[in-house]
Amino acid sequence: MDLGIDGNAAIVTAGTAGLGLASAEALAEAGCDVAICGRDEDRLSRAESRVDEAGPGDVLALRADITEKDDVESFVGSAVDEFGRLDHVVTSAGGPPSGSFLDTDDEDWYDAYDLLVMSVVRTVRTAHPPLVEDGGGTIVNITSRSVQEVIDDLVLSNSVRRGVIGLMKSLSHDLAPEVRANAVLPGAHETSRIEELVEDAVERGDYEDYEAGLADWSEGVPLERVGDPRELGETVAWLSSDRSSYVNGAAVPVDGGSTRSV
Ligand SMILES: NC(=O)c1ccc[n+]([C@@H]2O[C@H](COP(=O)([O-])OP(=O)(O)OC[C@H]3O[C@@H](n4cnc5c(N)ncnc54)[C@H](OP(=O)(O)O)[C@@H]3O)[C@@H](O)[C@H]2O)c1
Repeated sequence: MDLGIDGNAAIVTAGTAGLGLASAEALAEAGCDVAICGRDEDRLSRAESRVDEAGPGDVLALRADITEKDDVESFVGSAVDEFGRLDHVVTSAGGPPSGSFLDTDDEDWYDAYDLLVMSVVRTVRTAHPPLVEDGGGTIVNITSRSVQEVIDDLVLSNSVRRGVIGLMKSLSHDLAPEVRANAVLPGAHETSRIEELVEDAVERGDYEDYEAGLADWSEGVPLERVGDPRELGETVAWLSSDRSSYVNGAAVPVDGGSTRSV
């Protein structure tokens, strides 16, 4: 399917691994110039090669910590300088630490808020002027299915991510009609984040080994498997494209059907 975004420019925060990287690759495949950011230099350079191979456009890979205001502003500004325009903003982030309520202190809650919510606030605030300058664009926030159904041992994700959905819904009104804002709610996809969560659970003694943990993550999924990050990336590219031109303010589950609530 032609997504109609060939020649557009996109940024993906925390786009050097996992779901952010898969989204960057899908946007590159659709013909966009793509800028990605992350903190680790090796991961940045590996991701830059992968996005470059995915499509014909230019790629910019910059070191930026999305919890730092100056880093976010400089990442967005550099992408606009390099590409001369901005059409699509995709926000991903690292995952907050796992654990239940009694495992957390104040600092954990403020850190999760900075990582998940303020990173999006600052990215959108900086990106908005260039987004509207060329006639508008799109925002897609990568969050989690935990905003619809709480997940055991992920109290920070269950609680703080809901702020991103409230923000996205507000943006879908405040920034329209020039800008559409949507979110994707991933279920389990096999990225390093999931590997980490399963390994943590193995360490806590919840599972015998990694395979047993991964099998458990697949268990409640009607499609009987965890997702391939590409499947999430392609949904992000579609929401960024003209093929979804009347979709605004939607929170789209990409979870193999595992969320039971409507
Ligand atoms: N994978 C899943 O199944 C799943 C399901 C539901 C929700 N999610 C959520 O979706 C998001 C992405 O997950 P993922 O699986 O793609 O994670 P991942 O594979 O661990 O990748 C996380 C990416 O974020 C970057 N990052 C982390 N903290 C950053 C920071 N402060 N500044 C800049 N970049 C940062 C990492 O690079 P550096 O470390 O080098 O900075 C890396 O590129 C997370 O919030 C996760 O909780 C994932």
